[in-house]
Amino acid sequence: MATSSSAEPKLAVLFSGEGSNLQNLITALHRRGFSIEVAITNNPEAPGIQKARESGIPCEIIDHRLFDSREAFDAALVKCLQRHQPDLTVLAGFMRILTQQFISQIKAINIHPSLLPLFRGAQAMKESYESPMKVAGVTVHWVSQELDSGEIIAQRCLQKNPSESFELFQQRVHALEHVLYPEAIREMFK
Ligand code: GRF
Repeated sequence: MATSSSAEPKLAVLFSGEGSNLQNLITALHRRGFSIEVAITNNPEAPGIQKARESGIPCEIIDHRLFDSREAFDAALVKCLQRHQPDLTVLAGFMRILTQQFISQIKAINIHPSLLPLFRGAQAMKESYESPMKVAGVTVHWVSQELDSGEIIAQRCLQKNPSESFELFQQRVHALEHVLYPEAIREMFK
């Protein structure tokens, strides 16, 4: 994928909560061939804010509740991203539905905790756990207008264990995300 002039591709990471993927991307990629220029959250209470700051990454808070519409929030998000000029915007647990306002201007990818196109939406992990399928998995995809529906970039599956608790299953899915996401991003810039 083409980058701006510097050799180190610039990333922006968007998150809403815990930020375990954010932390993982910082550990795996930041100053290791990539530069995470900014982390942006819509949630002023997100534990991920601390994670970004501890790593010296500027963290911008754009509270969606302060905007009248999704479009107005997205416009603020786009403006912030344009200030930082990332080569790629990476969604890592960013829990907002994005409008055309964002999609038409920002090149962004997302990670989703299921084998898309199965189990789109916020309940993916639960639905995947409860499904009769023998495998589960994670997907990295382009962000498009329709939720969890953009072109698939990378996908990895894991074997389900019939006796395992939901908590353990979640941990294994997260661990797989943490392997696949940095790997997929590296691959995109080869
Ligand atoms: C991840 O499971 C990701 O796939 C989904 O939201 C979760 C975010 O977790 N989109 P974290 O905030 O990175 O810990």
